[in-house]
Amino acid sequence: MLVKTYSSTVFGINATTITIEVNLGIGINFYLVGLPDSAVKESQQRIKAAFKNNDLKFPGREITVNMAPADIRKEGSVFDLPIAIGILAVSEQVKTDFLDKYLLIGELSLDGSIQPTKGILPIAIQAKKEGYKGIIVPKANAAEAAVVHDLEVYGAENILEVVSFLNSQETTLQVEKIDVINQFERMIETFDVDFKDVKGQLNIKRAFEIAASGGHNVILIGPPGAGKSMLAKRLSTILPPMSLEEALETTKIHSVAGKVKGEIGLITQRPFRKPHHTVSDVGLIGGGSYPQPGEISLAHNGVLFLDELPEYKRQVLEVLRQPLEDRTVNISRARFSVDYPAGFMLVAAMNPCPCGYFNHPEKDCVCSPGTVQRYLNKISGPLLDRIDIHIEVTPVSYEELTNSVPSEGSIEIRKRVESARNIQKTRYKNRIGMHCNAQMTKNEFDIHCKLDESGNQILKKAMDSMGLSARAYDRILKVARTIADLDESKTIEAPHLAEAIQYRSLDKNNWSLN
Ligand SMILES: Nc1ncnc2c1ncn2[C@@H]1O[C@H](COP(=O)(O)OP(=O)(O)O)[C@@H](O)[C@H]1O
Ligand SMILES: [Mg+2]
Repeated sequence: MLVKTYSSTVFGINATTITIEVNLGIGINFYLVGLPDSAVKESQQRIKAAFKNNDLKFPGREITVNMAPADIRKEGSVFDLPIAIGILAVSEQVKTDFLDKYLLIGELSLDGSIQPTKGILPIAIQAKKEGYKGIIVPKANAAEAAVVHDLEVYGAENILEVVSFLNSQETTLQVEKIDVINQFERMIETFDVDFKDVKGQLNIKRAFEIAASGGHNVILIGPPGAGKSMLAKRLSTILPPMSLEEALETTKIHSVAGKVKGEIGLITQRPFRKPHHTVSDVGLIGGGSYPQPGEISLAHNGVLFLDELPEYKRQVLEVLRQPLEDRTVNISRARFSVDYPAGFMLVAAMNPCPCGYFNHPEKDCVCSPGTVQRYLNKISGPLLDRIDIHIEVTPVSYEELTNSVPSEGSIEIRKRVESARNIQKTRYKNRIGMHCNAQMTKNEFDIHCKLDESGNQILKKAMDSMGLSARAYDRILKVARTIADLDESKTIEAPHLAEAIQYRSLDKNNWSLN
């Protein structure tokens, strides 16, 4: 006799349905075929123990389990449940009537309980696409699947619950569906932090507004305690709210990484990721023998904050270059090649020198001559090339800190950001995948960043007098375009350029000497 059950496996951030065939033959062997890895091969032991501890019978016959399609490697232990149910069905302990209606996902413990797993959201999305009636998942992952509408979701804690559901179709395991649209609209306006908590620093807030408007990467340079971390954390609060599509994509990545927590299985706020400077390149970029998304993908549609930038290993920073350009990361190994989305805004922060007080208004820097430049040189040029805005942060004075005048909040700033973004949306409407000024290349400069004679003069003079490097030129034009958009100006005017020039601190060839 032959029985089929259905399960799923995730590759990148998308799922593929796996058919599991279980056949009973003559003999006593157990065969598992169809490119299973060692964790899948071990499922026989877990299933045997789980059956024994729950008074289910493991048939004393030859069992052959085939997993198809055969060319996809089956990894991990999530196939325990579909294999176990297949064995129970082929030995007539579970009815076969409904097996083709549900996808089954879950790792079994020896006592028969079902352990949480990763990647449930992409699996649920695929199940719906292929017309399955429902999905049976570990109870702890049920909220993640429940955001997919028109798909019944059953959360099970134990194999016996699944057996009784398949035999009787009673719906006690069914979880309530989440009204995604409603939840989404309710949640997108709530933040844990707000720009109104930041006292003073008007020019710095302005720089953040420009960065958010044009999608420009930012580096903050300033002494400890100046408020760099505080500011960086608030950047995502002034970015336009995520669309439902963006929210689902971000949640899919977090689901694959097993990081969706809580009652509501949808990430509604733009992520803010802050990997420590000891992060490995696999941790940052993704990879591993069971490929997993890294921090840059967890930050997709949000902000990646690298605090104390010079402390990161140079090799780790080097690997950031390609995803910063492509907004996606490809992980290739001998056995596989997967793509993870990685469209994030980079915010980096650093002290100006090892002691932190170079250029400080009150404190003295104790670093020896040359140390400051060496410290700056630790950041690679090509990475710096992808950062449009440099902001020098000095601490607010005691008076400003204790001032009771309310500061402007994130919602107000965000309104202006959204208007500037709308102008860009119209500008780039014919360019697939392009949505903000930071993404401009040489072609777009010629069309959208034309300067008149006086503009050219200003820029030339600034480049000469400040000793700006050639790389600064393109950055200044991009940022000036965004400033002009915030000003609702079709052309880039002198004040826009003058402001953009201020955001190139690290390009001044004498910065470390002044
Ligand atoms: N402009 C500001 N308004 C309000 N609080 C501030 C401001 N700047 C700094 N602080 C306070 O100082 C603390 C330290 O700032 P932090 O962001 O950690 O500095 P940095 O990252 O530059 O070392 C913040 O948590 C905050 O309480
Ligand atoms: Mg800090």
